[in-house]
Amino acid sequence: MKDSATGRVHVVVLAAGKGTRMRSSKPKVLHELAGRSMLAHCLDTAAALNPATVRVVIGHQGEAVRESQSHRNLDWVWQHEQNGTGHAVQLGIEGLQARPDDRVLVLYADVPLLGADLLARLTGSNAVVSLLTVHMDDPTGYGRILRDDTGRVLRIVEQKDASEAEREVREVNTGILMARYGELETWLDRLESGNAQGELYLTDIIEMAAAEDKVVEAVIAEDAWAVTGVNDRLALSRLERVYQQRQAEALALAGTTVADTARIDIRGSLDCGQDVSIDVDCVFEGSVRLGDNVHIGPHCVLRDCEIGPGSTVEAFSHIDGVVTAGDNAIGPYARLRPGAALDSSAKIGNFVEIKAARIGARSKVNHLSYVGDARVGDDSNLGAGTITCNYDGANKHHTEIGDRVFVGSATQLVAPVSVGDDATIGAGSTITRNVGQGQLAVARARQSVIDGWQRPRKKGD
Ligand code: UD1
Ligand code: CA
Repeated sequence: MKDSATGRVHVVVLAAGKGTRMRSSKPKVLHELAGRSMLAHCLDTAAALNPATVRVVIGHQGEAVRESQSHRNLDWVWQHEQNGTGHAVQLGIEGLQARPDDRVLVLYADVPLLGADLLARLTGSNAVVSLLTVHMDDPTGYGRILRDDTGRVLRIVEQKDASEAEREVREVNTGILMARYGELETWLDRLESGNAQGELYLTDIIEMAAAEDKVVEAVIAEDAWAVTGVNDRLALSRLERVYQQRQAEALALAGTTVADTARIDIRGSLDCGQDVSIDVDCVFEGSVRLGDNVHIGPHCVLRDCEIGPGSTVEAFSHIDGVVTAGDNAIGPYARLRPGAALDSSAKIGNFVEIKAARIGARSKVNHLSYVGDARVGDDSNLGAGTITCNYDGANKHHTEIGDRVFVGSATQLVAPVSVGDDATIGAGSTITRNVGQGQLAVARARQSVIDGWQRPRKKGD
């Protein structure tokens, strides 16, 4: 927990804007970066400060924005007309249970990469107002930070209100600031809309603070990406790449072999043991753990899973909601769906789908099979094209297969059905009744043979 030097922190998140340039039916702040909405990024960063209050100012499509965060304890404030950032913060602090020396931190919901470290620099400031600023080669569109000869911040001028000379200034306002509640409240009351946009500018409080000789501190962000706001999908995509590149580099530095740091996407958390290697174009979603010496081949998608040590996942495999014990061989082209579990050294080969099924130690399902709602014991072999017929059109049924079972190729197991330990099933069987321990079951038409068979001929031949 980290409060500023004095008082508690109240966070006001601005999220009322329309986001026209996203050209989307979805509210801008719900667009995702690395699998989480921009708003969620912002709120998670804010939560790290352990603030006394988090208020989110919503307007355009506010209902959808609010519903998206129903799992969080937040105060929602409606701003029906967007009369500017000053107006938004006026509403944001209305009725706030705050003491004069508490701090109000203003965040933008469309600045997803603002990191906790940078934010800590801002909230660590003792100034009455602390601003987050950044130097930009092209400052067009941003509010410029105007300082006197001694470097003291005097005011912020918006692009549309700025003179030619003021537009030359490269230090810009990120929009993120923190102010003492007592002063902020009185300054906000005095805002006027006599400017180029006819809005209440939050930035006008800087001039008021300077006029009262209150300390205004500008914390300069070194990393421009951390303070970049998203206005369109191009910006979002660029931030996504920056974020992914940084994650990949951190992963490599932490000891994972990453074949190409520009070709891995982690949308959630990826936890790797020692000597893990990841080939190109893999996507990790949710929470993924890879044990020691796991190798992931190219073009794999892994979501919410745990791959046991020493396992290999070959190219183009898709793994979701799965736990494997270790030394497993998976793929290429394997699909493991939620509830699949592999005991140690179990092998899943190409074009095999496993769902809600446990595959015992050293058992193999190597080719073109579907195993769903099933339990397979240890040391069993399911031949090519084995299918558990688990669905009767209304309900799902279970298939139980024991240890050391041999299932011949192209077998259908019509569930509910069980096959005992050491049983053998002849290829091409449709098994509808239970097979006991050690039995051989063959359930297919007997082969008939006709000598001298004449094939049909084409007419006129
Ligand atoms: C604002 C700053 C500018 C800064 C820039 C950084 C002001 C007057 N200007 O400009 O100095 O360089 O951000 O991006 O503060 N919002 C509301 N309600 C409103 C208006 C805005 O919730 O009535 C929200 C928007 O959804 C957005 C954020 O506030 O998340 C900033 O609004 P935007 O219109 O982008 O601000 P700018 O005019 O670009
Ligand atoms: Ca903006």
